[in-house]
Amino acid sequence: MNVQAPTHTADATTVEEGLAIQEAQAVHDSETATAVAMQNTLLTPRFYTTDFDEMDAIDVSPVREDWDKLIAQMVADPNKGHFRKTEDWDHVDWDGMEPELRKEFIDFLISSCTAEFSGCVLYKEMKRRGNNKDITQLFQLMARDEARHAGFINDALREAGIAVNLGFLTKSKKYTYFKPKFIYYATYLSEKIGYARYITIFRHLEANPEMRFHPIFKWFREWCNDEFSHGEAFALLMKTDPKLTTGRNVLWIKFFLTAVYGTMYVRDHQRPAFHKALGVDPDWYGQEVFAKTSEISKQVFPITLDIDHPRWMPTLKRLQRANADLDAAKKRGGVSGALGKLGASARAAAAFLSLYTIPAIKNDVPAETRLEPMY
Ligand SMILES: [Fe+2]
Ligand SMILES: [Fe+2]
Repeated sequence: MNVQAPTHTADATTVEEGLAIQEAQAVHDSETATAVAMQNTLLTPRFYTTDFDEMDAIDVSPVREDWDKLIAQMVADPNKGHFRKTEDWDHVDWDGMEPELRKEFIDFLISSCTAEFSGCVLYKEMKRRGNNKDITQLFQLMARDEARHAGFINDALREAGIAVNLGFLTKSKKYTYFKPKFIYYATYLSEKIGYARYITIFRHLEANPEMRFHPIFKWFREWCNDEFSHGEAFALLMKTDPKLTTGRNVLWIKFFLTAVYGTMYVRDHQRPAFHKALGVDPDWYGQEVFAKTSEISKQVFPITLDIDHPRWMPTLKRLQRANADLDAAKKRGGVSGALGKLGASARAAAAFLSLYTIPAIKNDVPAETRLEPMY
């Protein structure tokens, strides 16, 4: 029998296949893609690297039963073939799109694609460097999913004449080193907040289909279920070592919660036209996503942030204004720009500290970790 290699990232069963397909497509897009990838914007998520040997040494026996179930679910691969354009993909009138919306939406797609690919690169590297079968299998499966997600966003971008050149990014983008425990906190949170973001938009557009200005949002439910599973895997990894979520590490957890929520709020407020087109108030959206993420993170974190504290929302707004002023000062340049940068950075730091020092809400972590997507 002749087995044909898949030609679309949606059908790729391994990360290697998924990336090879995108590499082949990038040949046609390299010029625009390179130009976009070279742009330096605040919206571009980071790439991470870590101590892969330490991660390889994780023993999942304390969570074996849940682990095996989760892996079996991921191996069954319910979303294979999902991330491709079908007849549900309505025609997108890129030229007719209001220019401000078009700009912000493309920013959103590039930023999302880079974030998906950032996960892909980290997970693929862990799979490549490891010898621990449990760990390498998990990371191979997660990298497979992220390659599909990035590939699908690239499909959408290509219609606008743009594609993110993933091979180029892998080689040229700066990598930030994080200790494994910081990778767990940051990645767990980014997977779960990713789930909360995608499902909140999906439900909103389900109720208000006339606001769906682009077909990609129709794919968000299955998409967010992938992210949910990835988050589950990190929750189980953290459960293998109680030290990770107790003692002084609780302060780190609080730091990451504050940083991830704060960054999301600031970034989303940089896209007013995008949120207006969706009919979503970014303040409402932020609180909704934070509430869902906090509820889910009770599965493993001993605290949640008090997002209803009287200081929370006003301080987030201060952080956002300080960041907007920082941007403006950078653009201005010169002495006035340099002074403006200094002042705005100090205000942003003060706002962050104020958010960080809001007393957290204690949570008794349940013995049973595993959750199913419930929103
Ligand atoms: Fe993803
Ligand atoms: Fe993910």
